[in-house]
Amino acid sequence: MSDIVCLIPGDGIGPEVTSATRRVIEAAGVDIEWALLPAGTTALEFCGSVLPERTLAAIQGHGVALKGPLTTPIGGGHVSVNVTLRKRLNLFAAVRPVRNLPGIRTRFENVDLVIIRENTEGLYSGIEHEITDGVVGSLKVATAKASSRIGRFAFDYAVSRRRGKVTVFHKANILKMSDGLFLRCVRQEYAKDRDRLAYDELIIDNGCMQLVTDPSRFDVLLLENLYGDIISDLAAGLVGGLGVVPGANIGTSCAVFEPVHGSAPDIARKGIANPLACIMSGVMMLNHLGRTQAADRIRQAYDTVLADGDPANLTPDIGGRGTTESFTDAIIRALP
Ligand code: NAI
Ligand code: MG
Repeated sequence: MSDIVCLIPGDGIGPEVTSATRRVIEAAGVDIEWALLPAGTTALEFCGSVLPERTLAAIQGHGVALKGPLTTPIGGGHVSVNVTLRKRLNLFAAVRPVRNLPGIRTRFENVDLVIIRENTEGLYSGIEHEITDGVVGSLKVATAKASSRIGRFAFDYAVSRRRGKVTVFHKANILKMSDGLFLRCVRQEYAKDRDRLAYDELIIDNGCMQLVTDPSRFDVLLLENLYGDIISDLAAGLVGGLGVVPGANIGTSCAVFEPVHGSAPDIARKGIANPLACIMSGVMMLNHLGRTQAADRIRQAYDTVLADGDPANLTPDIGGRGTTESFTDAIIRALP
């Protein structure tokens, strides 16, 4: 039976990397019916809205989406479409596996992290106001409900994936109430799993230093929203950059799979965007749908292309001189 998956091409390099992903999934023989849906700046031109209601309704209805990045203008009056989408669909957990890949040489070996980010509150609540001329306030929201929920998610994830340890990065020494509440709730959840997992906490500035000194000492990282955003890009830099880190946003009734990177306007429409992060997000999606054999075959295919290391196949961000298309073609040829 075919699954229906919502496909949101998005902005910038989004259409390039999502169509590459669709090609690879189809070449692997997976029977998926794609529901093409608008969102982002591109949608504004055609539908008069950056997040049309029918896009939200379709994701809610089908339960699964593959999404390209959406551009959010800096400053000005726009709320982020991504933040709105995650909140409206209650996609409370972002899951971002970060690992060394064959053939991509970086400063570190044995990096194998999973970042779990709280996706619905913190400073991302977007509650800002001007107190008086020249003075603004920005509210960091923490609730016991969301903090316990992400803690539970992280420990369940770690146990089910046979991970050994969860580390929380926080700033509860300064943000005593908000990060303090987050920590207390997470500790309560950990208490239920203490026989099955190791757990520790680091103040985030020290955590950053440790992460760039020896990332291999970390396993699952659990962070509130803004820290998770920043550490995700930092961690991507440890293994080859934003072109190689996938992600999933998981909620209670639906899941949206998307690369960690943004719309990369600097390279949009040049045909050189690395499609791998999106393809890997597609692999996470196939696993979520129970299509584990196809997921394994695609993973084997890109591992082969990367290990082979032919620069004619690979995109420039990982040392190649190829294109989005040459990389995608090579992965399709390498499918076992
Ligand atoms: P970005 O992630 O788009 O780009 C950062 C740098 O990484 C750029 O030099 C870009 O060329 C490079 N890069 C990113 N993805 C790449 C890929 N697949 N292949 C090769 N190189 C790649 O971050 P930036 O420039 O800060 O943000 C651009 C826009 O994207 C902003 O409007 C931002 O709000 C939005 N954004 C959207 C996200 C989403 O929809 N999930 C996530 C992050 C940012
Ligand atoms: Mg980000």
